[in-house]
Amino acid sequence: MWLTPSLKPVLWTSLVILSASNAIAESSSSSDSNMPLTCDSPIYCSGDLLKTVQLAEIYSDSKTFVDMPTKNPLDQVVSAFNAIGANASHDAIQKFVTDNFWEAGKELQPVTLQVTENPKVLDKIDDTTLKGWASDLNHYWANLTFEFNTTFLCDGCVSSTLPVARRFVVPGGRFREFYYWDSYFVIVGLLVSELPEVAKDMIDNFLDFVDQYGFLPNGARMYYLNRSQPPFLTQMVKVYYESTKDEELLSRAIPILDKEYQFWQANTTVEVKDPKTGQSYNLNHYNVENNSPRPESYYEDYQTVQNGTGYNQTQIESLYADLATGAETGWDYCARWTRNKEPASDDPNSYKILRTLNTRNVIPVDLNSLLWSMESNLAEWHAGQKAKRDDKMSGNLSQWYQRKAKERLEAMEAVMWNEEHTSFYDFNLSSSTQNVDFTPAGYYPFWLGAVPEDLAKNYTVLSHVFDEGNKTLNEYPGILTSSLHNTTLQWDLPNGWPPLNYIAMQAMINVDKLIQKTKKKEDSVDLLGLAKELATRFVSSAFCGWYVTGGSVPGVLAQLPNQTDTGHMFEKFNVENIGVAGSGGEYTVQAGFGWTNGVTFWAFDTFEGFVAPNCTTTSS
Ligand SMILES: *[C@@H]1O[C@H](CO)[C@@H](O)[C@H](O)[C@H]1NC(C)=O
Ligand SMILES: *[C@@H]1O[C@H](CO)[C@@H](O)[C@H](O)[C@H]1NC(C)=O
Ligand SMILES: *[C@@H]1O[C@H](CO)[C@@H](O)[C@H](O)[C@H]1NC(C)=O
Ligand SMILES: *[C@@H]1O[C@H](CO)[C@@H](O)[C@H](O)[C@H]1NC(C)=O
Ligand SMILES: *[C@@H]1O[C@H](CO)[C@@H](O)[C@H](O)[C@H]1NC(C)=O
Ligand SMILES: *[C@@H]1O[C@H](CO)[C@@H](O)[C@H](O)[C@H]1NC(C)=O
Ligand SMILES: *[C@@H]1O[C@H](CO)[C@@H](O)[C@H](O)[C@H]1NC(C)=O
Ligand SMILES: *[C@@H]1O[C@H](CO)[C@@H](O)[C@H](O)[C@H]1NC(C)=O
Ligand SMILES: *[C@@H]1O[C@H](CO)[C@@H](O)[C@H](O)[C@H]1NC(C)=O
Ligand SMILES: *[C@@H]1O[C@H](CO)[C@@H](O)[C@H](O)[C@H]1NC(C)=O
Ligand SMILES: *[C@@H]1O[C@H](CO)[C@@H](O)[C@H](O)[C@H]1NC(C)=O
Ligand SMILES: *[C@@H]1O[C@H](CO)[C@@H](O)[C@H](O)[C@H]1NC(C)=O
Repeated sequence: MWLTPSLKPVLWTSLVILSASNAIAESSSSSDSNMPLTCDSPIYCSGDLLKTVQLAEIYSDSKTFVDMPTKNPLDQVVSAFNAIGANASHDAIQKFVTDNFWEAGKELQPVTLQVTENPKVLDKIDDTTLKGWASDLNHYWANLTFEFNTTFLCDGCVSSTLPVARRFVVPGGRFREFYYWDSYFVIVGLLVSELPEVAKDMIDNFLDFVDQYGFLPNGARMYYLNRSQPPFLTQMVKVYYESTKDEELLSRAIPILDKEYQFWQANTTVEVKDPKTGQSYNLNHYNVENNSPRPESYYEDYQTVQNGTGYNQTQIESLYADLATGAETGWDYCARWTRNKEPASDDPNSYKILRTLNTRNVIPVDLNSLLWSMESNLAEWHAGQKAKRDDKMSGNLSQWYQRKAKERLEAMEAVMWNEEHTSFYDFNLSSSTQNVDFTPAGYYPFWLGAVPEDLAKNYTVLSHVFDEGNKTLNEYPGILTSSLHNTTLQWDLPNGWPPLNYIAMQAMINVDKLIQKTKKKEDSVDLLGLAKELATRFVSSAFCGWYVTGGSVPGVLAQLPNQTDTGHMFEKFNVENIGVAGSGGEYTVQAGFGWTNGVTFWAFDTFEGFVAPNCTTTSS
């Protein structure tokens, strides 16, 4: 099956890209005719059945219901619903669900994974407690690796899963399928843990998805088919290739990454006018076409948009689109996307602040850095293909991407760089100004190398890039916060997130290298010291979170009394207290947790000399 590309006028080069990826798509895409290309199920996507069940709050998490496969054929389930009707009592709805659905996540089948015992990274850890913990953590990959098996479904029965050909690592907790940008940090960890075959399977699954759907959906469920997530696939291919030199995978990936790039260009490009000069540039925003509650967050979205707001249809559709777009950003939700930066005191569920979402009018610095990196890497990889095969089209594409990267960098410097604050910021189309607000998103250019040459050579600039981040690290004892706004939203203060801390540390390492090149080393700021300090806080937060929830190391570290669990790795952390999980947001804090494990292994592989902290035992 093949998605018909949109027939809008496109650049000749775009056509070249499409035809290049078509050739690959036709030779490699699976022919599973049951694979949906849009979300159209009356159970999992939209309609009265979904609305009635979700608004009845049968489960405390809206995601539970849409992850339940049916026990009976679809037409029978729909008839059974029609028999009770949209005005059914809570008991009747509950009975309908129990009679017609299996438990959530029944499609997920654990895979027997032989982890690599004693990967080299363990030799880098001297502290016996931390070494024991890391060794335990190394086995967690086996607990998080699954495949989908839907053979239990009766003839005509349905499930919301999208078919996936190979095994994959899930984040954990309520996330019972793979996720797009999470997987980059998982893959980084898998490579350090010496499981490159698992990393390859995950990347191949993603390449299949782009081939099939024309873009990479948020995750492997049909209700994610309306949106993507931060475009990290190129970064996955890059770290995997650098670690394995697997040419075959790279050759498969290039034309498919062309296709992913084409999606971002076609669906998310906007014109941005520089308020200083009046010059126009093309940059990208997150942009989801959607006019209804997200099925997996139906109840929350409905309350936010439609219950008692009195909004007209235009406002309703716009807010649903901004909610879904917020999910596409990966930072759902935070003050980066809202007009109000302060929570209302009578807003425990954050409905009011979310009504001020303005996601699509923000030009995010992280998204544009990722796209710049796609352009730069594809320019390099196409040049490599040209050299190898003497292929003229690859040569042209290489030059075309090079030009795109150059244009984007000029645009980013013009509208996102702030000389006074020595920072990159998001640009706000509503106000035609930068959002001058600290967030680690501003470190993406330094992580990925999207740094204009005049800045990259300027010692004064380089030495101040981390001033705001360092200030917040001096203020709070934990990891780097996602923002300075205390909004109750989960990507704001007091929460710090593993992926953003990884990017901050990588950015510090890279800026340190740039500083070395300016030959002002003698009076340079100690960015490697700052990166190590952050890594220490990260390792301590993850370790203490695990220890206060029952983690132990046989013969070295006894379990705290009265623990029923054996240690959790949290998805996010409270920056005010080492070892306390983050809070807020649409769902309860999740344990598992893919990207936390990945960043922990990366930290152990990159820095040395960690010492086990003394954790406070007052867990929340
Ligand atoms: C549900 O009840 C409302 C009012 O109580 C009524 O207007 C509506 O027609 C009913 N819907 C169905 C499907 O029975
Ligand atoms: C991982 O799986 C093993 C074997 O099934 C189990 O003993 C262990 O408790 C699991 N660990 C976690 C953290 O869930
Ligand atoms: C899928 O599950 C069925 C049981 O429902 C089992 O018989 C079969 O072996 C499983 N398939 C694979 C590939 O593990
Ligand atoms: C991208 O844009 C095309 C053309 O407007 C549209 O058909 C498609 O649904 C969009 N893709 C997504 C994932 O929104
Ligand atoms: C996807 O977008 C279409 C068009 O806006 C909408 O009709 C549909 O309900 C959306 N589906 C999901 C699952 O969000
Ligand atoms: C809408 O909000 C009101 C007041 O907060 C609440 O009582 C009612 O249950 C809500 N409606 C739904 C469908 O949840
Ligand atoms: C919807 O409400 C907004 C805000 O009050 C208003 O600007 C807009 O004109 C209204 N649109 C329609 C179609 O009524
Ligand atoms: C370096 O950056 C500073 C601060 O933005 C600026 O004042 C200075 O002129 C720049 N130096 C060079 C050589 O460009
Ligand atoms: C955030 O706000 C909450 C409640 O308003 C307060 O308890 C907490 O201390 C604040 N945290 C920070 C870091 O300001
Ligand atoms: C960070 O702040 C501390 C405390 O003010 C200071 O000693 C240190 O030099 C700063 N580090 C960097 C890299 O700016
Ligand atoms: C453990 O639980 C028991 C029973 O609830 C309680 O009596 C005891 O004080 C607890 N011990 C600790 C160390 O918390
Ligand atoms: C933890 O506490 C012990 C005993 O009080 C002390 O010897 C050790 O240095 C502390 N470790 C750290 C990392 O602070």
